[in-house]
Amino acid sequence: MSQSDDSKNKIVIREHVFDGIEEYDQNLPNWWLFTFYIMIVYFIFAWVAYYQSPFHIQNDHEHLDSQLAAIEEKKNKELESMMATLNDDSLREMSLDAAHVAAGKAIFDTKCVACHGADLSATMSGLKLPGVPLNDAEWLYGGEPLNIMGTITNGSPDVTKGMIAWKSQLGPAEIAQVVAYILSYHKT
Ligand code: HEC
Repeated sequence: MSQSDDSKNKIVIREHVFDGIEEYDQNLPNWWLFTFYIMIVYFIFAWVAYYQSPFHIQNDHEHLDSQLAAIEEKKNKELESMMATLNDDSLREMSLDAAHVAAGKAIFDTKCVACHGADLSATMSGLKLPGVPLNDAEWLYGGEPLNIMGTITNGSPDVTKGMIAWKSQLGPAEIAQVVAYILSYHKT
């Protein structure tokens, strides 16, 4: 079969046999070509729209980032307004709020219970724990809510006593909630 015959016929049999199988060389079907060309056009369109258009289309990652940033901002705003009005009275008010007290208890039970005891008595099953009682009327560094908050935030003034500055592990709002929990033992 000559080269000119080849180009005239739609279906040609190549001079190629492998394992007794003759290989056909056919034109690609139109539906396949059509899809292929459409994809090329689509690609150009999508590339321009995605990377070149002045209207920036957010990808999933950016979308998530911006949503998280919005949540973070909202949280910070709430925190700011809470901290801006934080004083002895507002902390006492927090100690009457079940949600804040529960949040404070959750923090206390993970970070503080080992030294101050589950009932704040600094004992466990009659054994003395390293901390001092927080359920009595005796305060080393002041018993006003802001005094207590200060001690927790900055730790004991005497570093050798073993009470670290909790601001390294807890945010101001969390510390305020722990204070609320401690104050809930001092309802008058
Ligand atoms: C490693 C043991 C330990 C842990 C954990 C610990 N404390 Fe203390 N805490 C102490 C000791 C010891 C003191 C007494 C410090 C001193 O004598 O200066 C103290 C003192 C305090 C005081 C001051 C009490 C007063 O009489 O003025 C408060 C309030 C307090 N702790 C709250 C907390 C809170 C809240 C946490 C958890 C976030 C916590 N502590 C975790 C050991 C601990």
